[in-house]
Amino acid sequence: MKIAIGNDHAGLELKNEILAHLQELGHEVVNLGTDSPESFPYPVSGYRVAKLVAEGGADRGVLICGTGVGISLAANKVHGIRCCVCSEPYTAKLSKQHNNSNVLAMGARVVGSELAKMIVDEWLDAEFLGGRHQTRVDMIMEIEEKQSLGASDALK
Ligand code: RB5
Repeated sequence: MKIAIGNDHAGLELKNEILAHLQELGHEVVNLGTDSPESFPYPVSGYRVAKLVAEGGADRGVLICGTGVGISLAANKVHGIRCCVCSEPYTAKLSKQHNNSNVLAMGARVVGSELAKMIVDEWLDAEFLGGRHQTRVDMIMEIEEKQSLGASDALK
């Protein structure tokens, strides 16, 4: 799989561990985050990764900041992105099976590196289940599309 990874300064160490882990698993990893411990705004990395995934340049994205929250908020502003912050493997797995998440966010100040690897592994191994879940994901994407067209009410 081709995986884009991004981070801010708070996520640097964990990013490096996850990047190495993904490469060990045989994935191609595109590093779009900062490699410096200097302060770096998480929206930049969140946007870079989300844009590449949304455009089809990567199969999935992994984002890491202090909590995973800010960087996921930025990623979710990009059309086509469903980014979920996960602190344990169960939510990560279900975020793919039910929500078809295409970007995973984690907080380096929240999860340790071994737990983060388990979260990533469960997420990458999971498959979207479709069916009734597809209907709901379609509704999410309908909100996005209609909002961007300026509709006053996205869903009936
Ligand atoms: C940086 O201090 C921190 O705000 C950032 O990494 C992230 O946790 C934001 O959501």
